[in-house]
Amino acid sequence: MCGIVGYIGGKQAQPILLNCLGRLEYRGYDSCGIAVSANAIEVYKDAGRVKQLAGAMPKLDGVVGIGHTRWATHGEPSQINAHPHLDCSGNIAVVHNGVINNFQKLKQQLIGEGHNFVSQTDTEVIPHLIEKYYHGNLEEAVATALRDVEGSYAIVVLAAGEPKLVVARKDCPIIIGIGDRENFIASDVPAILDYTNRALYLEDGDIGIVTKEGIRLRRDGAEVKREEHRIPWSVEDAQKAGYEHFMLKEIHEQPKVIRDTLGDYTQRAEPAMLMDTGIESMLILACGTSYHAALVGRYIMEELLSILVRVELASELNYYVPNLAKTGAIAITQSGETADTLKAMKKLKDMGCPVLAITNVVGSSASRIANQTIYIRAGPEISVAATKSFTAQLMVLYWLAMSYSKVDARRLAGLIMGIRQLPKKVQQVLDNEDEIMKYAKYLAGYENAFFIGRGINFPVALEGALKLKEVSYIHAEGCPAGELKHGSFALLSKDVPVIAIVAQDNTYEAMLTNLKEVKARGSPLIALAEEGDEDIDQLADSVITVPKGDAIFSPVINTVALQLLAYYAAKQRGCPIDNPRNLAKSVTVE
Ligand code: F6R
Repeated sequence: MCGIVGYIGGKQAQPILLNCLGRLEYRGYDSCGIAVSANAIEVYKDAGRVKQLAGAMPKLDGVVGIGHTRWATHGEPSQINAHPHLDCSGNIAVVHNGVINNFQKLKQQLIGEGHNFVSQTDTEVIPHLIEKYYHGNLEEAVATALRDVEGSYAIVVLAAGEPKLVVARKDCPIIIGIGDRENFIASDVPAILDYTNRALYLEDGDIGIVTKEGIRLRRDGAEVKREEHRIPWSVEDAQKAGYEHFMLKEIHEQPKVIRDTLGDYTQRAEPAMLMDTGIESMLILACGTSYHAALVGRYIMEELLSILVRVELASELNYYVPNLAKTGAIAITQSGETADTLKAMKKLKDMGCPVLAITNVVGSSASRIANQTIYIRAGPEISVAATKSFTAQLMVLYWLAMSYSKVDARRLAGLIMGIRQLPKKVQQVLDNEDEIMKYAKYLAGYENAFFIGRGINFPVALEGALKLKEVSYIHAEGCPAGELKHGSFALLSKDVPVIAIVAQDNTYEAMLTNLKEVKARGSPLIALAEEGDEDIDQLADSVITVPKGDAIFSPVINTVALQLLAYYAAKQRGCPIDNPRNLAKSVTVE
């Protein structure tokens, strides 16, 4: 969850490190710091933002350095606990993402051997261990130190007088960006896009020795090679392009994202090997918003493929033994780095289950664990709240199901026409932004809300609630419309609005009944319904209209409307939309 950067080359490191850290701000952090080395190491770090840190430090001389944005786990956000951390001599500096599980034991041992500790962090044991083993060969010292460490890490090590950076990973992402007589290190692609789009992705257990001239990788003492990847994103992709927030920009990008994802997928037409392995059931696993895409996927696949589909939260799948007979798995993860999802993928693979990954990040850990990967073409998603990646994930699920579908030719032709119309329909929702904003302003005055839906729009209710709560801090629950009466009714009142997602499918009549029940309990009722639905006009206090279409695609249209609702409610409440409190973009700890 922390951000890591490193630079070595011919230019002054300080401005490059600060710029790279600025590009990682979207991940969320509470403190930051950099270390630059000429002959000695100079460290500046503190709680607070990168801009404050930059304003408070002098010009530093040095062409090699490391930087960090911290998300506190061990010890409060403070100057002392911020990274980089140093050894006793101040000659070794380390930035770290991850958790060292045995740090207490190591710390006691090291204190017994005369090392002084200043912070409450687990990270601080790493520079001290490296110091203990450093006898003139930095990479050997790092390799030896890491043998003592239990836990997860991505680290970058800087040593005074050494014209190199040493980088290592286990269960946390880290990439090396390749430049012209300069190299970069980052925990996340957007950090280095200003400088390069060429990258190497380290595997767990790899140690990288990065100099101005080159990159050498080793593993268990032997040299290894890793494939160079071209990052298909530009600097502009990772900028706000005139929008007030990344979330709004990313919501508006969705017509293009649908075209890009479908275009890419259909042109390359690579068969999904998983579907050709004689599987009789499917297990889809994911977390958060990706989990909601997976839930929609279940309806799509069960309808079009006529197979049994189970959907599991990755964090839960890790704690029971699933029955995997004739089962194939799909892991959905925007970042490709979510720890719970990666752990579940490894478990399934170890149990002999083939795993297909659907991810946004080329070369991410998920893509390397999976037997096969399909990339969504969402471009960098910077807002902590996922929006366009959800839509792109659905596009892959639709196309996958349609490609292997058992439906008749007429239905399939209708589906193809329906999916091709989606960019236009999503644009119509976006064009209705002012109307949605009006309802969002109204919703912003409440502290609690329910989202209800049925069938394929039940996951949309979950996603609408998640979006609203994470960006506006309004407590929201997504509930199957038929379940309200089994308990949640107790909470309905004039102070608890209900947002009902009403689709023109076999759930329609039942939804009308549920809407009447809600009205009878005094809750303000906002309905999301297709244009021309007069029954809903009669029932609901307000109606957000969305374009008509095949109900199977309604989750895309409805979710975009709910994303705008959440965004404008958060804006009305003055929330920090792109960086909601306590959240990080990429959740690399369990
Ligand atoms: C919510 C959100 C999170 C992520 C979740 C999984 O807006 O962004 O719930 O969806 O952390 O992340 P990925 O898809 O990267 O595995």
